[in-house]
Amino acid sequence: MKEISYVMIKPGFLQHEDAIVERIEKVGTITKRQKMQLNDDVLSAHYAEHIGKSFYPELADYMKSGAVIGFQVEGEVGLIGRIREIVGATKNPAEGTIRHDFGVGEITRNVIHASDSPEAGRAECERMFDKAQEYKIEIIED
Ligand code: CMP
Repeated sequence: MKEISYVMIKPGFLQHEDAIVERIEKVGTITKRQKMQLNDDVLSAHYAEHIGKSFYPELADYMKSGAVIGFQVEGEVGLIGRIREIVGATKNPAEGTIRHDFGVGEITRNVIHASDSPEAGRAECERMFDKAQEYKIEIIED
């Protein structure tokens, strides 16, 4: 059985795409890639569990501040955990993780998003790729 994760390089960190992709490809296969500009609608769906928290307005503003690159990553069972391991923790990510090595020491601007469960992985990939038009996500050609 396969697992799917949605991985997203956040605004301001797109220059690290090649190095980040190299790390992701050690644990899974990238099957979709899309550069895009997110909006309030899709962000409130993607971050539904965080709406109402004190950091949500800052998070939404930041995620709209520039382009992101989303990836669908596929792999064997356990992929979600393996990706989160290389991504690193939200707070104080360990040395050698993506969030540490490419980060600027800020919780909001934490370089990258990765799905936290197989169910979230499927839902997030469906939303960001299949339903991009429905959510009026602006696709950026590069
Ligand atoms: P991400 O893994 O994409 O999911 C939620 C995001 O909210 C998180 O990364 C951070 O960018 C942001 N965030 C900002 N402040 C906090 C906080 N105190 N706890 C968790 N996430 C936070």
